[in-house]
Amino acid sequence: MADPVRTDLPTPRPAPAGPTDDRPPVCLGDFAELARAAVPPGVWDYVDGGSGAETTLAANRAALDRVAVLPRMLTGVDDPRTAATLLGREQAMPVVVAPMAYQRLLHPDGESALAAAAGAAGVPYALSTLSSTTIEEVTAAGAGPVWFQLYWLRDRALVADLLDRAHTAGCAALMVTVDVPVLGRRRRDVRNGFALPPDVTAANLPGGRDDLAHTGTPGVSAIAAHTGAVFAPALTWADLDWLRDRTPLPLLVKGILDPRDAVRAVQVGADAVVVSNHGGRQLDGAPATATVLPEVVAAVDGRAEVLLDSGIRSGTDVLRALALGATGVLLGRPMLWALAAGGRAGAETALALLATELRDALTLAGCADPAAARDLRTLTGG
Ligand code: FNR
Ligand code: LAC
Repeated sequence: MADPVRTDLPTPRPAPAGPTDDRPPVCLGDFAELARAAVPPGVWDYVDGGSGAETTLAANRAALDRVAVLPRMLTGVDDPRTAATLLGREQAMPVVVAPMAYQRLLHPDGESALAAAAGAAGVPYALSTLSSTTIEEVTAAGAGPVWFQLYWLRDRALVADLLDRAHTAGCAALMVTVDVPVLGRRRRDVRNGFALPPDVTAANLPGGRDDLAHTGTPGVSAIAAHTGAVFAPALTWADLDWLRDRTPLPLLVKGILDPRDAVRAVQVGADAVVVSNHGGRQLDGAPATATVLPEVVAAVDGRAEVLLDSGIRSGTDVLRALALGATGVLLGRPMLWALAAGGRAGAETALALLATELRDALTLAGCADPAAARDLRTLTGG
């Protein structure tokens, strides 16, 4: 017999409305909804997706959520500073805009808009080798420190050329990404046959098989086909030795998870390691970055800075990373959401929200500044 219809249940309240012109975003997550509505579904999937079953993508968030920070009381802090030193330079926050490819997919102003927003917020902007705006155009705007992210190309002469261009253009640091021997298999992009639209190109690599990135084939990610053709697949630590000698800029090694690799990076002279699983886009089944961070921090033992990315979404997450021992964080997808939602102004709003949240988190944890947060204790498991 069917259950009698109950009449005593409360009427469900309508779901809270998402951010609109009248209801501005109050956190970085609010920009995701706006971005999803603003870009074609294939672009959304390219940005949002991870590799394989997206296990690592989900693990990044789950691990951060499990980090509980023990706040300190009666420390007399009411107006903490968010400023922190990264690679020897004071920045407004211990936050860097992560290098992300092809930002003109999200907004016509692409990299120029995000770099300007980062500069206005007083944080470094990392410019991808695969930017859709040239190194020279982005640095010419002169907004703030630009860190050049290097993908190692098969042709070493082209690598040397990129290094020279980055140095001449005034980039303040070099970040070499080491977790892309091949692009992770991103099922969404494969299903979508995702390819770049004609007006978005790898602006720094003229003549670099750009055609491959634009050829849409069902069952093939054109981004993977292109990177497979132009990226060097089998780098070694000897290549990093060469790089260390070749550039006078501070060197960051991005994509480290095993503490033994962190130690090798220190030995080749890296100034910083970036604990990253590429936002869950490379090896699916790799650990969440928050899980491995403490071991990496211990192994590096103060000989280099340790930055973390993959899943950072709020000021609380920045506090968590600091409390686990990071020097700072890279912020990925939320910056692309904000760019899609509102160009430079959207990105500035997102960074201002993050600064507000970080200030609140520091105040509530009794920390006068981000450096003090590195002494906080954490519990994992809630
Ligand atoms: C990336 N990432 C990346 N990393 C890199 O070193 N060079 C690159 O060109 C790109 N491109 C790229 C494109 C897109 C669309 C995304 C989402 C990510 C990885 C990026 O720097 C960073 O490691 C992650 O995005 C961090 O994770 P969250 O913050 O996005 O969760
Ligand atoms: C990505 C590459 C290009 O994650 O880094 O899409």
